[in-house]
Amino acid sequence: MKTVSTFQRLKDNNEKISMLTAYDYSTAQALVKAEIDGILVGDSLAMVALGYENTYNITIDEMLIFIKAVSKGAKNSFIIGDMPFMSYNLSVEQGLSNASAMIKSGASAVKLEGCNRHILTLVKRCVESGIPVLGHLGFTPQLMNTIGGHKIQGKTADNIEIILKSAKKLEEAGCFGVVLELMPADSAKYITENLRIPTIGIGAGKYCSGQIVVTDDILGKFTDFTPKFVKKYTNLSEIILSGAQQYKKEVKEGIFPSEKESFELDYEEKEKLLAN
Ligand code: KIV
Repeated sequence: MKTVSTFQRLKDNNEKISMLTAYDYSTAQALVKAEIDGILVGDSLAMVALGYENTYNITIDEMLIFIKAVSKGAKNSFIIGDMPFMSYNLSVEQGLSNASAMIKSGASAVKLEGCNRHILTLVKRCVESGIPVLGHLGFTPQLMNTIGGHKIQGKTADNIEIILKSAKKLEEAGCFGVVLELMPADSAKYITENLRIPTIGIGAGKYCSGQIVVTDDILGKFTDFTPKFVKKYTNLSEIILSGAQQYKKEVKEGIFPSEKESFELDYEEKEKLLAN
């Protein structure tokens, strides 16, 4: 069974940590079969599953529906619920209450973006209350408007030191790991080597303790945009398109359903019908 301690053990043993996102029951089942170490119900589902333009409008109540679905498909797995924009920024009480709702819906931990005094207090309170927290630094999508777009972070020695300082504060506050998003590989390497807890990279090169990507991106299902750091392992959108086209053709031509996909009426009942 994967738990929060699996992450530290993997880092301590120099084994890479694999993480992927899931938003639904059947994807979660597949990730369990693949023995993925951690499943993130990311707020990326706002765009990928709900078609929103960004992650700002997804609510905690919407996130909980997806966490429930994933937790049913991935029983005994390590599921992290992503706290959406403004679901933890108003007060520590608000953050604690929403983090608790995620755990009650089936998550084993939560993820929070950034590192300021409020976040550090919230991390401590969550951990004290039995809610493990994964931090998120570098490019933090919920702060995109203040960052000014999808900008690569950690490009100067000074900036790398600032990110490391934040990561150390999150570590001290009790985070069990920290996501590093969108930064040069060497920057993430420096941060990873100077932390005790594992780093999980996304667009942050190969030296992080583990990796996470959006499953729909690497399987080629979500095609609105594809970041440079995404490697496609298959092309689900083409597979879905060709399956749907073939289905439509067979329906139009009366090929589907065939006898194989149909139920038979008893001979006698059929006779009665014909006699009417
Ligand atoms: O929302 C998300 O999916 C994320 C990433 C780290 C993959 O935050």
